[in-house]
Amino acid sequence: MQTAHSIEEMKHLRSKCRGSVGFVPTMGYLHEGHLELVSQAKNENYVAVVSIFVNPTQFAPHEDFKAYPRDLDRDLTLLESAGTDIVFIPGDKDMYPADYDTWVEVKGITRHLEGRSRPTHFQGVTTVCSKLFNIVEPNKAYFGQKDAQQALVIQKMVADLNMNLEVIVAPTIREKDGLAMSSRNVYLTPEERKSAPVLYKALQLARDMHAKGESDAILIKNAMTKLISSVPAARIDYISIADIGTLQEVNDIRGRVLVSLAVKLGKPRLVDNIILG
Ligand code: PAF
Repeated sequence: MQTAHSIEEMKHLRSKCRGSVGFVPTMGYLHEGHLELVSQAKNENYVAVVSIFVNPTQFAPHEDFKAYPRDLDRDLTLLESAGTDIVFIPGDKDMYPADYDTWVEVKGITRHLEGRSRPTHFQGVTTVCSKLFNIVEPNKAYFGQKDAQQALVIQKMVADLNMNLEVIVAPTIREKDGLAMSSRNVYLTPEERKSAPVLYKALQLARDMHAKGESDAILIKNAMTKLISSVPAARIDYISIADIGTLQEVNDIRGRVLVSLAVKLGKPRLVDNIILG
């Protein structure tokens, strides 16, 4: 496994790659979900590149940029055993020099869900991913379904800007009790960790109600709200049933919909989703 600590080094290593390159952008503190993406990238390409960069521009000033969990040594060990070929670890100043002034913004779908609660978040994500795509020049880039809106936003950006790569979205990897794997789960206290599967239980409740013929989105969201509210520490940010293309809320479930939720459980804010239909 080779490591590149600067943009120049990464471009140099990229220039020597032969065959297709699969790329997994990450913010580090890796878990099984990331490693599944790496393994898929490795299986489907000649070269697997992973970036580790906690991107400051996707955090609002009051969010957890400084506290975001970091453990580079552990990440490198995990990536080496997952068969990664190149790890790109740029510094903040390399990616955003003092005179940095260019932003990439997807409108429309970024106004809903996460974008409503975190208005500057997606501009940071699309900007850093554009930069990473330009530097790494991947043939395929891999994202997890857990951050469903992020995956849709990246797909839209790649299509709208005619970027020369394919975006692959891989299924959410869950703990045995259903909790979606996330680097932020480390913030949960033992008590909160016990309650955290309630997010997935609420999504399963939506799936069951829909499977039994319920198409009223409000009724389903009310039942999900009631279930999550049974956990005293849970603070619901949103519960949404939205059209999978536009991310606009639907009242009557007809085609494919994204059922998603964001819930604050103590310190961390957890997100999860499923697709129905
Ligand atoms: O999902 C993440 O970890 C980040 O948003 C990403 C895609 C690496 C961009 O910083």
